[in-house]
Amino acid sequence: MTTTHSTPHQKIRDLAKAKKAIILAHNYQSAQIQDVADLCGDSLEMSIKAAATDAEIIVCCGVRFMAETAAILCPDKIVLMPNPDAGCPMANMVTPEALLKRKEELGGIPVITYVNSSAAVKAVSDICCTSANVVQVVNALKEDEVLMTPDRNLARYAAAHTDKKVHLWDGYCPFHNDLSVEAVKASKAAHPKALFVAHPECTPEVLELADSIQSTSGMIRFVGESSADQFIIGTEIGLLHPISKAYPEKTFFPVSDQLVCADMKKTQLQDIWDCLENMSGRVVIEETIRIKAMDAVKKMINTK
Ligand code: 13P
Ligand code: SF4
Repeated sequence: MTTTHSTPHQKIRDLAKAKKAIILAHNYQSAQIQDVADLCGDSLEMSIKAAATDAEIIVCCGVRFMAETAAILCPDKIVLMPNPDAGCPMANMVTPEALLKRKEELGGIPVITYVNSSAAVKAVSDICCTSANVVQVVNALKEDEVLMTPDRNLARYAAAHTDKKVHLWDGYCPFHNDLSVEAVKASKAAHPKALFVAHPECTPEVLELADSIQSTSGMIRFVGESSADQFIIGTEIGLLHPISKAYPEKTFFPVSDQLVCADMKKTQLQDIWDCLENMSGRVVIEETIRIKAMDAVKKMINTK
């Protein structure tokens, strides 16, 4: 990005247009990344957009599992990750081998895998879910017992909303899991008129204090539908950008300034420019894994 007349933002928009690329960004990305993207959303929305786009190139600004999901769904497109180092620590808390072993110990019950997982783990799963559709996915299965991986907090949240028996995997998001009841109570005491909205990756003790439990885009919708005008946001601080942009007349407080996902902040504007210019950071999934993983992801997308 060395020319002088237009802004970095405009140059990236021009390059994306010339390359017939679409830029997708997760709601936790830094403000300038979200602002340069064609579409921002939660994990479910990102996979639906990736599956539906007619662009030739998908630039996926988020963490690796999000780019992998796009590559799983779109084998004919070029999926680029502007910063290939951006991963999700929770996704590394389960391997295909360990998951298959546990499934066998439990008599082969269906495995529901959170999209925050590798393509190889999705490939040995029966169906995927996101924070936006986990309850529908559990309830859509005909079996009465399921194994959910990798997030134990999401699994406990799902278990509280179904009659089925949900077996947990001992994974977690290091940032959401660390949010303490004390921090939430302190924030509520400081902002007594605010509603507390929490992400289901938080612990059950924190979720008990929530006025609403939502995916990241679900939080934005909840705020729009609520008559309240102040909210404590119980998720990664990146969400403060799209939510305050959508509802500038309302007031938002981060529940904790510690809820920052370092991997979500790795992608820079220059990375987007570089990956489009050089076609670098391509994500390709080995075909036998891709086909099996696609089955689990598509089953999720088709669950109503
Ligand atoms: P959402 O799907 O709700 O956006 O969450 C993704 C995520 O990684 C939460 O930590
Ligand atoms: Fe993974 Fe947590 Fe970061 Fe979400 S916030 S990408 S679950 S580490």
